[in-house]
Amino acid sequence: MPALVLLGAQWGDEGKGKATDLLGGSVDYVVRYQGGNNAGHTVVVGDQKYALHLLPSGILSPGCTPVIGNGVVVDPSVLFSELNGLNERGVDTSKLLISGNAHIITPYNVTVDKVTERFLGKRKIGTTGRGIGPTYADKINRVGIRVQDLYDESILTQKVEAALDGKNQLLTKVFNRRAIEVEQVVEELLTYAERLRPYVADTVLVLNQALEADKVVLFEGGQGTLLDIDHGTYPFVTSSNPTAGGACTGSGVGPTKISRVIGILKAYTTRVGAGPFPTELFDDDGDALRRIGGERGVTTGRDRRCGWFDAVIARYATRVNGLTDFFLTKLDVLTGWEEIPVCVAYEIDGRRVEELPYSQTDFHHAKPIYETLPGWSEDITKAKTFADLPKNAQAYVRALEEMSGAPISAIGVGPGRDETIEINSFI
Ligand code: GDP
Ligand code: IMO
Ligand code: MG
Repeated sequence: MPALVLLGAQWGDEGKGKATDLLGGSVDYVVRYQGGNNAGHTVVVGDQKYALHLLPSGILSPGCTPVIGNGVVVDPSVLFSELNGLNERGVDTSKLLISGNAHIITPYNVTVDKVTERFLGKRKIGTTGRGIGPTYADKINRVGIRVQDLYDESILTQKVEAALDGKNQLLTKVFNRRAIEVEQVVEELLTYAERLRPYVADTVLVLNQALEADKVVLFEGGQGTLLDIDHGTYPFVTSSNPTAGGACTGSGVGPTKISRVIGILKAYTTRVGAGPFPTELFDDDGDALRRIGGERGVTTGRDRRCGWFDAVIARYATRVNGLTDFFLTKLDVLTGWEEIPVCVAYEIDGRRVEELPYSQTDFHHAKPIYETLPGWSEDITKAKTFADLPKNAQAYVRALEEMSGAPISAIGVGPGRDETIEINSFI
């Protein structure tokens, strides 16, 4: 009953989509357990490039059943346009399963996300504007709308009324917007019900039965460890738990079933949106990482902030997720630098600090302490084994492994499925 979790070890966009797709051919189920269409996962298969937002990356592997777990927030209009786009390209999406307990991103959640950000002004989080935070807020406030509510018009109406009661006060009196009509929302949500119906399932039962039958289940995280609502750089985070524990609550599979937790780790660091980022570069190196790494958001089209590798973050990810392995991505992007700085610790108010400070104030003051490793200039995109890498690239990987606290079991040397060096097999 192997159950693997694959998650982002930094601030998202580590290459989770590619890693998931790579394993997709050997697993039976790929499960999204949190987040929603704030994610943007690019998967390259041969000469085809796919941008996935809500759907698990396993959808591109024909033998694999993609599952949207109870912990995910679902915008039905986005779901349908993503399904349509894949169907037009000949991808079979009929196996998709969606938890009846997953929450729906309603149009008013999207509105509240946008007006809240506008209201925050320069203190904004820089959200993706997809309604993620407000939908999770409704869930926690117990006024959320779940997928199963679409099949009982009377319950749906009561719930939308409850949700809009307070929100309309806020929209009209604080945000100076027009009130949202209950009937209009209910009508729109009901239009999704029939198309969603064939996918809706008791995914908790399906996944646990699959594990009992010795099937392989892969949990695919969205976002990343430092964007986690509990363990990330709060308040500059997303509103869910991308960390390993989220795979259990977001799917209904118990922690004793999880056999492996793989952290996807970029060979440097990126971040989208606001918030602290100790190794961020504002110079030519930062621009070069952005250009060579193609660091532009798949969801919002925003340029990603770029910086050197941060081993303090990686160690933290190992700890809070109980990582068993790392999948190091985008090593090829670092080709051509004579020397590559790596952050090994922080200096905070004159002290050397080896571990991520729990205090937000300290983290905001953290200055990176770098060690410099020798670079390489040989093209590594054709490397198939660790031994094919130039000696300095091997040493860079080994140094990162040593600092980060878990074995690096695979290395990405390009965006394609086959541009990967497998060191230890995951399944
Ligand atoms: P995700 O959100 O974690 O799935 O990552 P994104 O898809 O947002 O961003 C990662 C980007 O890097 C995508 O464009 C991938 O195609 C690309 N990518 C993934 N792994 C590698 C790699 O090893 N080398 C290079 N050059 N690109 C990669
Ligand atoms: P993937 O899965 C990078 C960031 C946003 C913002 C913060 C909160 O592609 O790695 P939200 O809309 O979630 O309320 O925004 O989180 N963010 C991401 N950054 N990759 C992502 O997903 C992200 N999803 C959200 O930029 O700073
Ligand atoms: Mg992404």
